[in-house]
Amino acid sequence: MSNDKNELLRLDHLCVDYKVKDGYLSAVKDVSFTINKGEIFAIVGESGCGKSTIAHAILRLLPEHNEVITGNVWFNNENINEYTETQLEKVRGRQIGMIFQNPLDSLNPVYTTGSQVQEGILLDNVSREDAWKKVIEIYKDVKMPDAEKRAKSFPHEMSGGMRQRVMIGMMLARNPQLLIADEPTTALDVTIEAQILKIIKSLRDEFNTAVMMITHNFGLVAEVADKVAVMYAGEVVETGTVFDIFDEPKHPYTTRLMAALPRMTKAEGRLQTIDGSVPRLTEHKSGCRFANRCTHATEQCKTQDPPMREVSPTHSFKCFMEQGVDING
Ligand SMILES: Nc1ncnc2c1ncn2[C@@H]1O[C@H](COP(=O)(O)OP(=O)(O)OP(=O)(O)O)[C@@H](O)[C@H]1O
Ligand code: SF4
Ligand SMILES: [Mg+2]
Repeated sequence: MSNDKNELLRLDHLCVDYKVKDGYLSAVKDVSFTINKGEIFAIVGESGCGKSTIAHAILRLLPEHNEVITGNVWFNNENINEYTETQLEKVRGRQIGMIFQNPLDSLNPVYTTGSQVQEGILLDNVSREDAWKKVIEIYKDVKMPDAEKRAKSFPHEMSGGMRQRVMIGMMLARNPQLLIADEPTTALDVTIEAQILKIIKSLRDEFNTAVMMITHNFGLVAEVADKVAVMYAGEVVETGTVFDIFDEPKHPYTTRLMAALPRMTKAEGRLQTIDGSVPRLTEHKSGCRFANRCTHATEQCKTQDPPMREVSPTHSFKCFMEQGVDING
């Protein structure tokens, strides 16, 4: 429980292990953070670091059913990790909406997109006619070109950007308190990407919807997010406001990522990979998971888990170095 009335979602020591052939793969390890009402919270990190696993674990939507989840997921001060499937069903879509990496996977190919959005509205006991009017309104809200016509289109008749708008529209129809957007724009070109983000941001401004935004793209983070969590190999290694992370990164991994962004194009930079490789997550070794790539690593880093250090009430990083790296010094 928390007494903070702004708090919407709080992950409390969340761990997700996948059962695999040779044991368990520790995809998410001891992740804790809070998203407040109306806040845009970005999770950044390279491919395979556990971003989607966190998103899916919150709503227990992991498709393979080979996961072991521990820790707690607090939503509106209730531990939804203890919910039954029936209880969670009421949270999904209605209170927490999710936009997936590939919208085509989530749309039914045999129904028009408008009728799929309408279905969500009909759950609120409105007439079919009023629900259809609302669909058109929503298509306009998400800036769908030619809304009336597009509501009658099938998914395959639409571009990637249009399908992503339908997905956002579907979520809007339910008016959730939290929208989880898992790389909603990676498949889109940059102009459409910018438009989709503008829509997501305007939803927050208009309806106070909190957004958990998962992305590879630091440029997007700088543009839309309030807070950021940087992930590495299943762990959150640094969290802070956008200003904390961009102006004063402390963790060696974050500072390397920042340095890898060309100075002039920082705002457009996609996450680049840095030298060395991510450790295999099935090897349960103690020590800092970044140690084999870190130029500051000591013997202690290889054998013990580094602590989370607080720079300020908004900013923390996980490292043995007390002050972290000083990029301005
Ligand atoms: N069902 C599963 N069983 C076993 N391992 C899995 C399963 N799902 C994901 N993984 C592994 O867990 C790790 C985290 O995967 P996840 O999809 O969460 O990463 P991600 O950060 O979302 O990556 P991307 O940016 O590529 O989407 C990866 O090593 C992945 O291979
Ligand atoms: S704990 Fe050690 S290895 Fe890990 S980031 Fe800090 S200095 Fe580098
Ligand atoms: Mg992913």
